[in-house]
Amino acid sequence: MQDNIKGKVVVITGASSGFGEISARHLSDLGATVVLGARSTDKIEKLAEEIKNKGGKASAVTTDVTDVNQVKNLVDSAVKEFGEIDVLLNNAGLMPLSPLEYLKIEDWDRCIDVNIKGVLYGVAAALPYMKEKKSGQIISVSSVAGHTISPGGAVYSASKYAVRVISEALRQEVKPYNIRTSVISPGAVATNLPNSITAEDVSKGIHDYYEKNAISADSFARSLEFIINQPEDMDVNEILFRPTIQQL
Ligand SMILES: NC(=O)c1ccc[n+]([C@@H]2O[C@H](COP(=O)([O-])OP(=O)(O)OC[C@H]3O[C@@H](n4cnc5c(N)ncnc54)[C@H](OP(=O)(O)O)[C@@H]3O)[C@@H](O)[C@H]2O)c1
Repeated sequence: MQDNIKGKVVVITGASSGFGEISARHLSDLGATVVLGARSTDKIEKLAEEIKNKGGKASAVTTDVTDVNQVKNLVDSAVKEFGEIDVLLNNAGLMPLSPLEYLKIEDWDRCIDVNIKGVLYGVAAALPYMKEKKSGQIISVSSVAGHTISPGGAVYSASKYAVRVISEALRQEVKPYNIRTSVISPGAVATNLPNSITAEDVSKGIHDYYEKNAISADSFARSLEFIINQPEDMDVNEILFRPTIQQL
């Protein structure tokens, strides 16, 4: 298959951990330039250094995706340093599961701010550049929870359904600009995500579940590679995957 990854400039939100971190390493190994955004400056700077020491191209830009100006700065920095943005991976997210009756209103607000507004701010930052060059991919991370609802998952599922809605509307709207839009909807994959649960009883249950069911984060990186590696006339709109043993 033709190599459509080498030389591309990929901006990744939530690059300090989990999917973002493994994707940065994987895409860099395949020849992409990676621009890393997250709040944990030390972690993304260390990762960028590690990639550069291996001969890759990377930079780190401290970014809180709930701040539209910081997300704009992340994308602007990529274009300033590397000349363009080919791919935006809207990946930053958290999963503060709890039943609604726990009234964890701060969790609801954070979940909406990061998982929904963060994705919209990414679109706002990348779209002007992609429209201008009539090319680009905006890849956003939803979840199996963006397809199914279960108790404790109301706000998280709502945020991940929203990611699919935003991405599908964007897909239809950006046809004139040749921009491609994708969603990756993973099931249980081993990352730090369960640590974002603040309800103790729920946290314990989910940690146990992940310990028994979760698969390696390579699964995500391979899905991402597939999407970015397609030629420009193929727009992969969604990959939904689960651990083989996952029931829900
Ligand atoms: N792992 C799974 O089973 C699974 C399944 C389905 C979907 N997902 C989705 O995958 C995405 C990545 O999660 P993960 O599994 O890799 O979890 P993770 O290891 O906890 O990583 C989450 C990342 O999001 C970043 N983040 C959180 N709040 C942020 C903010 N306000 N601004 C910027 N970055 C922020 C974190 O960086 P900082 O704390 O440094 O900012 C971190 O890099 C999320 O959208 C999640 O919902 C994961």
